[in-house]
Amino acid sequence: MRVISSVTEMQSISMNLKRSDHSVGFVPTMGYLHEGHEQLLDAARANHDVVILSIFVNPLQFGAGEDLDHYPRDEARDRQIAKAHGVDYVFLPSERTMYPTPPILDIQVVRRTDALCGKSRPGHFAGVVTVLAKLFNICQPDGAYFGMKDAQQVAVVTGFVEDLNFPIEIVAVETVREADGLAKSSRNANLTKQERLEAPAIQQALKIGRDAFMNGETSVEAIKQKVKTFIEGETHGKIDYVELRSYPELEEIALIEDHVILAVAVQFKKARLIDNVVFDHTGTVVKG
Ligand code: PAF
Repeated sequence: MRVISSVTEMQSISMNLKRSDHSVGFVPTMGYLHEGHEQLLDAARANHDVVILSIFVNPLQFGAGEDLDHYPRDEARDRQIAKAHGVDYVFLPSERTMYPTPPILDIQVVRRTDALCGKSRPGHFAGVVTVLAKLFNICQPDGAYFGMKDAQQVAVVTGFVEDLNFPIEIVAVETVREADGLAKSSRNANLTKQERLEAPAIQQALKIGRDAFMNGETSVEAIKQKVKTFIEGETHGKIDYVELRSYPELEEIALIEDHVILAVAVQFKKARLIDNVVFDHTGTVVKG
């Protein structure tokens, strides 16, 4: 496994890989790797000749008041995990390397971001696609791997790659869960003992919402209300949102006719947890 910090070196390696017909799987991360990332690395490893992992805490996707300086970092551990999961190259640039001069472009994401986390984090997805445009050009992957826990990111990145005709397949990997159904996240460590006991109610509430639809409930509002009522009854968390929208367009819907996402964010004392399920007009889970 090689660790590369220079853009030109990484780009020349990836161009050579392309010329020699190697297929490249790419897992972009901000480091502090957890089991969700490991799942992405394993999926990339299974599908490609070469796996590139990038670790870069991207300042452009943090808003004012979001704690960029305290974003957790553990490079030594990340390297160990990368090695154990068969990564060939770790691209680990500095902020200066990635943004040597102020960008002359200001990319805006005008769809798929007015709800869910995009609503409470204005500018976040513009920062995400800006850094991904650079990383895709530097690493030249055939496939890029993202977790479905952040389904809105998958929807935005998929649209962005289609809009700009990047020759890259966006691969959405299912959410990794604890035995009790709680979606794995580094934020779970910030739950109190009592909150940790309550948190699986989030996935149970999503199931209750989907079951209601499968049992004949057609009102989007009624389904959302069932999810809210369950979470409010089972946890001390404060609901940030419960949304039922089309997927991946993330538009408001009156009826469930095609793929939809039921998505939830709940704020506990020191941890904001998100989870979702994507299903189709028969209620069959597509991803989640
Ligand atoms: O999901 C993340 O960790 C980040 O948004 C990403 C895709 C690495 C871009 O900085």
